[in-house]
Amino acid sequence: MQDFLQTLPKVELHLHIEGSLEPELMFALAQRNGIELPYATVQEAKDAYCFSDLQGFLNLYFQGMSVLRNEQDFYDLAMDYFRRAREEGVVHIDMHFDPQAHLQRGVPLEVVMAGLLKAKQEAEESLDLSIGMIMAFLRDRPAEEALHVLEQAAPYWKMLDAIGLDSAEKENPPSKFVDVFERAKQLGLVCVAHAGEEGPAEYIKEALELLNVERIDHGVRCLESEEVVERLRREQIALTVCPLSNVSLKVVEDLRDHPLPKLLSEGLKVTISSDDPAYFGGGMLTNHLACAEAFGWDKAVFRQLTRNAIEEAFTTQQRRDELLRRLAAI
Ligand code: HPA
Ligand code: ZN
Repeated sequence: MQDFLQTLPKVELHLHIEGSLEPELMFALAQRNGIELPYATVQEAKDAYCFSDLQGFLNLYFQGMSVLRNEQDFYDLAMDYFRRAREEGVVHIDMHFDPQAHLQRGVPLEVVMAGLLKAKQEAEESLDLSIGMIMAFLRDRPAEEALHVLEQAAPYWKMLDAIGLDSAEKENPPSKFVDVFERAKQLGLVCVAHAGEEGPAEYIKEALELLNVERIDHGVRCLESEEVVERLRREQIALTVCPLSNVSLKVVEDLRDHPLPKLLSEGLKVTISSDDPAYFGGGMLTNHLACAEAFGWDKAVFRQLTRNAIEEAFTTQQRRDELLRRLAAI
């Protein structure tokens, strides 16, 4: 199974590039930029990655990304992850990034975009990897700020595949962002949103009805509403489920308690991603191996999950066909 899961042409639809910042690179960038970290060693940082909820993680996530200041830092961050993901057999990544988290530290959007786009281009040319770009908005910040950033991003609109919605979910319902998502739709951008991770099933319904999203990030709490499950099934809306993230952030106590098998038996379009691999114990291969062990899934299940992800990936029809052929060949 390990060999099969390594070879499986895995497609990651839910990855925060800032959450791929490994402590080793964090220390190297802190030194390069003369930034003081609250940890004395890499091990101390790793020991601090013990969370009781989403907010506890977000505090360290925003703290960690403070080392990213220059174009080269964003390039190094992304290339470092792309190389590691490729070694784990990943062939496509839809990458969320959080411009507001950098703008509020005084890092210009141009710096963020230049570094990430250079890494994307290089990975696509030399690593057999395709990359989608999802500009995400922080839902615990004002909607007006998100709208302003979306306008500010005008030079990059054509390089974006989608907009997303992340950060603290509780008390920040999708309805807060109707104007932002309407504007994105006007611009021809696809919309996705985190919903039903810590927030209720109602937020999934709102994201679908008010924000017109094409995919739901996480969505595991859909099972609390018969009506929401029915809609997700009927419209075959993809859920980008992140098993080890859900364990780390105590959405579930243990992976064996995770609703993934139930989501599948309900006929939902499930996919598997790593979310923030540097913080949650591993990347795509680790997440797949953990699921194999916890649920005893056979190859056919993993093939179906991968087919789902390939079908939903932000890429060209040519690349999608190629990935489907590669999946059929293993
Ligand atoms: N949920 C919400 N916001 C996030 C996450 C997440 O899992 N990771 C990075 N930002
Ligand atoms: Zn996420």
